[in-house]
Amino acid sequence: MVSFLPICLIFFAVHRISAIEVTEESERIVEDAVMRALESLYNPDNLPQNNASSAGERIVMSQQANADSKSAQFTGEVLEEATRTLVQEFGMDILPVANEVINKWKVEEEQENDGNATEVPETRKKRQAVFRIKRQSGGSKKCTTHPSNCNDRFHTTTRSITGHCNNRENPELGKSVSPLRRVLGGAFYADGLGQMRTRSVTGAELPSARLISNVLHDDRNNQVFSANINHLHMIIGQFIAHDVVFIPSSVVFNTKLILLSLIPLLLARNGGQLDCSACNSPQRVSGNCAPIRVSLNDRYFKIPCMRLTRALNGQENFGVRSQIGQNSHFLDLSTVYGSSECEMDSVRSFRDGKLKTFTGLGYTLPPQNFNDTNCQSKAPWVCFTCGDFRNSLHPALIPIHTIFIKEHNRLADLVRSRRRRMSDEEIFQLVRKILIGMWQHIVYNEYLPKYLPQRSLRNFDLQPLRNRVHLGYKPKQDPSISAEFAAAAFRFGHSQARFDFPRLNAAGRPAGNYDLGHDIFYADQNYLSGIGGWEPVMNGMVRLAGMKSDRYFSFGIRNQMFEIRGRNGSGVDLVSVNIQRGRDLGLHPYVMYRQFVGLSPVSKFNDLNTTFSKENINALRSVYSDPMDIDLYTGIMLEENMAGAQLGPTGVFLIAEQFKALKTGDRFFYESSVANTDNFNLDEMNEIRQNVTLAKLICTNMDSINRINTDIFDFRSNQVACSTLPEININTFLR
Ligand code: HEM
Repeated sequence: MVSFLPICLIFFAVHRISAIEVTEESERIVEDAVMRALESLYNPDNLPQNNASSAGERIVMSQQANADSKSAQFTGEVLEEATRTLVQEFGMDILPVANEVINKWKVEEEQENDGNATEVPETRKKRQAVFRIKRQSGGSKKCTTHPSNCNDRFHTTTRSITGHCNNRENPELGKSVSPLRRVLGGAFYADGLGQMRTRSVTGAELPSARLISNVLHDDRNNQVFSANINHLHMIIGQFIAHDVVFIPSSVVFNTKLILLSLIPLLLARNGGQLDCSACNSPQRVSGNCAPIRVSLNDRYFKIPCMRLTRALNGQENFGVRSQIGQNSHFLDLSTVYGSSECEMDSVRSFRDGKLKTFTGLGYTLPPQNFNDTNCQSKAPWVCFTCGDFRNSLHPALIPIHTIFIKEHNRLADLVRSRRRRMSDEEIFQLVRKILIGMWQHIVYNEYLPKYLPQRSLRNFDLQPLRNRVHLGYKPKQDPSISAEFAAAAFRFGHSQARFDFPRLNAAGRPAGNYDLGHDIFYADQNYLSGIGGWEPVMNGMVRLAGMKSDRYFSFGIRNQMFEIRGRNGSGVDLVSVNIQRGRDLGLHPYVMYRQFVGLSPVSKFNDLNTTFSKENINALRSVYSDPMDIDLYTGIMLEENMAGAQLGPTGVFLIAEQFKALKTGDRFFYESSVANTDNFNLDEMNEIRQNVTLAKLICTNMDSINRINTDIFDFRSNQVACSTLPEININTFLR
């Protein structure tokens, strides 16, 4: 198969690649690398030695790849392997040419799809399957459509479920299953391509993520609560995270199926979980394993390594490994409506514009999901189906999902009562538009100001306007979620999570509680109808303090993520996972971001003293051998908070920068007015600005609450009657 290779080698040795020019020779070299990658990756003789099924233990994970992501991984892995081959044989210089070859193939493929090509040779069919596969949505049903015209009526008036066509110049920007953005540009990998860094700049081994977590992030069961911010702020942060970020984990393909067919439909059902729990799993199971070393004297885990699967490689070109967001990147309530046609269809009732619910216990819950293989509790206490797969990650998320579903259905009823002739589809899309507008207002008006300082809100233009439209939409702005936000900065919220979720009854009196670590991916707490279902949990989050946002994390977060009840040590440490995830995504070390945001350069630990306490510098020194090694997540969590903020300058910058991108890069942003786009008019914007609050949303959709905090995220604030809060007037939106 590779008989022409030596000739190619000579060709490249003689003609060092200068201009980007695709020749027959270069195309053959690239094609050969792709074919060899296919053969080596999907060779039955290279099957992993143990995978999840053979390990005999169910592995629960929150970041499950869907069919489209699996297709992206398939393409990404072939490109990764082919890149390695090309670089080994010709050096890095070949990569730009190789990418030109891909571009040429894409054009050819489009011509073939248009029916312009007469004959397609067999080899070309195979190599193009690698790239085409990504564009054909998996499953028995089409889950993701790829519109050819973003200026058609639908995409002018309606925000697509995937985010496709939000940007007309570059329709794939920010859509579901598309690449994460990089704030610093480029990734930081040991080999420049995709290998995680394991060595300090001193040459020594980097400290294990669990060691860092033990030394720097253990709260030793001494919970320090926030002086003013409630636990609701934590859960709304998680709801935002699940709206905009979903980095899927790598899967393992059934090699035989791939070789047999290369058919996307099969790929969708192919792709099982990897068992990355053994320390040698990167060698024996898959290069997509990144287990975390645990010391012999660890206080909780009695295993040599903690499992971790790398985020799946969705690279679309020859070159560096890159990651994707599986949900649409926009702030568009993916949690409620999903990020693909299939997800959306699974939550819609298709009657009167409404969403499905489960009401079998006398109160509302999201619809039950009897096919959730990740759910740890047994039928009939099953997990739920919502727009985002992680809805049942822990029980306190379900109240938030339920409130948004109930509000959607309430508004749909109101619309229906006033416009009897509107179809299910018309009502659904109108209410979806309004609810997304309400959600965006709550995030920018109420959530962000609680932890970003006023100065940053102003500098990044994050404050809602009064009686004016926002004219700052920029088609050149990439709205995609940055790797730094997703894998580090916005995970700050993990430090706000309490060990326990206390319940309060309607009168504000204690009504029992449950522990976070006991309930990860268990849904049974939401079925306790005798004590009022989920409402007492919600009351507790509104009225009680969350944890202070600092470097310390509660026991459940640091020890019991995905733990099986009664089996201590069967889960993982989320803080270690966050640190390792940063290395997996190739985030640069903390000090490089620090310099990027305008802080002084660092060459020794003491240089950190402008933004770190002495105690924290000493703590860092005790685990890292050089400041250049400090992981971004740890650096952010140890910085001193800025005045009026819950985070230090690097964390604040990375979060504010992201929310600016989500505002100025979203053609449908609730305050924006863009030509040829069905935005809200000024009256509608003002209706949202003046009459929408999270407090009212909660009041309206709970039975047991009559009074609520004046400042919804401040548990000390005065309580007012729900009836005194302004209410959105649906008539404003009925044009
Ligand atoms: C009890 C509360 C929470 C639990 C149990 C939890 C759990 C998790 C887990 C298991 C992951 C996956 C980690 C990985 O594999 O890389 C994750 C990711 C993440 N979490 Fe949380 N989380 C919680 C609260 C929060 C909060 C409050 C925020 C933000 C304010 C947040 C932001 C994120 C982000 C941005 C990610 C990355 C998502 C992705 O990679 O797709 N989480 N969380």
